[in-house]
Amino acid sequence: MYSEKVKEHFNNPHNQRKMENPDGIGKVGNALCGDVMWLYIRVGENEDGDEIIEDISWETFGCTAAIATSSMITDLARGKTIEEAIEISNEEVAEELDGLPPVKMHCSNLASDGLIEAIYDYLSSNYDEVPEELKKRHQQIEKHMEEVQEEYGEYVEMEEEMHSSS
Ligand code: FES
Repeated sequence: MYSEKVKEHFNNPHNQRKMENPDGIGKVGNALCGDVMWLYIRVGENEDGDEIIEDISWETFGCTAAIATSSMITDLARGKTIEEAIEISNEEVAEELDGLPPVKMHCSNLASDGLIEAIYDYLSSNYDEVPEELKKRHQQIEKHMEEVQEEYGEYVEMEEEMHSSS
């Protein structure tokens, strides 16, 4: 069963929209079902001059758990520094939602991977160096996305079309 919080976020998702001219985009897929998510970030600065996630939004073709975790991760990441945002795990997102059914835990990867990819996109476009750990996670996610593309090519194409016309 889904928690009340999951139902709340599924019924009234936060920050669900396409962002115009984002600083970073993460596009990720789930190899178990072919569902795809786009996560967008805009980067600003806090009073100390640290880079923070100033704005964040998403579009997800996915199940109840994928929608609720997408909504929750954007609430958690908004206002955080880039370094803090990288640390947000799918377990933390699930905990904030008062848990997910074990069979649905894989769906929460979309949200955390989407955030990592958006941050990687931002850092690699703006800096010569990307932290080694982030680079490794990006490579794993990219490999996973290739598997999604191979397994669910047509489905992903359909999602792409719906996404670009949204
Ligand atoms: S079943 Fe696809 S993301 Fe949950």
